[in-house]
Amino acid sequence: MSIIQVHGLRSLEGEIKIQGSKNAVLPMMAAAVLHKGTTVIHNVPRIQDVFCMLGILKKIGCSCSLDGHRLTIDGSSVSESEIPEEYIKSMRASIILSGPLLGRTGTVVTSFPGGCSIGERPIDLHLMTFRALGAGVKEKEDKLIVSAKKLKGADIYFPFPSVGATENALMAAVYAEGVTVIHGAAKEPEIKSLCCFLNNMGARIHGAGTSRLAVTGIKQLYDSEFTVAGDRIVAGTYLAAVMAAQGSIAMKGVLPEDLRSALRVSEKMGAEIREYENRLEVSMMGRPDGFDVVTEPYPGFPTDLQSQLMSVMAVSKGTSRISENIFEGRFKTAEELRRLGADIKIKDKKAVIHGQHILRGNSVTATDLRGGAALVVAGLASEGMTEIYECHHIERGYEDICRDLTSLGAAIRGME
Ligand code: UD1
Repeated sequence: MSIIQVHGLRSLEGEIKIQGSKNAVLPMMAAAVLHKGTTVIHNVPRIQDVFCMLGILKKIGCSCSLDGHRLTIDGSSVSESEIPEEYIKSMRASIILSGPLLGRTGTVVTSFPGGCSIGERPIDLHLMTFRALGAGVKEKEDKLIVSAKKLKGADIYFPFPSVGATENALMAAVYAEGVTVIHGAAKEPEIKSLCCFLNNMGARIHGAGTSRLAVTGIKQLYDSEFTVAGDRIVAGTYLAAVMAAQGSIAMKGVLPEDLRSALRVSEKMGAEIREYENRLEVSMMGRPDGFDVVTEPYPGFPTDLQSQLMSVMAVSKGTSRISENIFEGRFKTAEELRRLGADIKIKDKKAVIHGQHILRGNSVTATDLRGGAALVVAGLASEGMTEIYECHHIERGYEDICRDLTSLGAAIRGME
């Protein structure tokens, strides 16, 4: 699917099930490399990033089978320590294989992922982690070679929380000798899930969900099964969709607690939210009120929902402001939203959005995953037809955004 067409101004009604979480399952797939046996993961989303990670796992010697949403990974024959460059280029998250590969084989060969469409994404904290555990890092031509005879537990201090570096630290420390303490760890729900996943395999991690994680090295992991939680960012995207298009929807398979900051913002903007154990109901009648939001590490407002919220703000009453503190490149979506008639001014890390009564359909281009989803949200609030190009970005993280929104009453379809 490379183009999505949306006919806007239809309110959304109905109930959907939220797919499994992309950012939770990718590190779990990487962690399976640590085990010389079988790991089964349930509720795996059928998205391009998962297919890409499967490609890498097979390349390094795992045998994998994805049957519906059930993934089996057999890591008994891992034979390669090099993450192929083409995968690093197409999916930056492949960096999270470095920790488990280093832990399993004592060596990992990778390369710098470089900048991407949402801005510079350095890996200095990942490398700092490996060095702290006793590995050497060498640069040879375009490649990075990280190796250690033996990893040793250590204190790792992060100057600010990094999701990927925390995950790499956790996974590299599983087999390290002694105790590793990660200070200033990221607290995203996906990190907590990874700790539970690793403990379920036999690892010994304490402090899940806090900024101080302690890993006691072990010698062996065991066969295990685990179910991935619902994707809070996909749920947040449909929350934005109903706010922009108005209506009343229910989402099952998502923990409201994981979306706390986004739910609070939505309520301030006029949405009515009802929370249940594993289900959310959202109603939005009339245009949302403008609001000011700052993106922050969890539990703050997630950068992964910033673009979708910008689309909502583009049709909200009055003026809204966004400060983007994590990935400055995400403001690229503003240029496309302007093509639909949005009034957005950007200066450095700040956006000022003067809400319009209505946006007007036009041709726009997705430049990244969440920015692409934001254009779909904006299309739902636009008069006439919006055509979104380069939708392969959206497929990296959404199983079938057209299927989900169609089931809620939107007029939307994908085309090759
Ligand atoms: C993960 C998520 C991504 C989300 C992001 C922030 C996955 C697969 N991706 O990305 O969807 O938007 O968290 O919630 O889970 N940084 C450094 N040096 C490093 C590493 C990071 O300076 O070595 C900076 C980054 O440039 C960024 C900040 O730290 O400004 C946070 O990035 P990080 O939490 O590492 O994001 P990712 O793990 O790449």
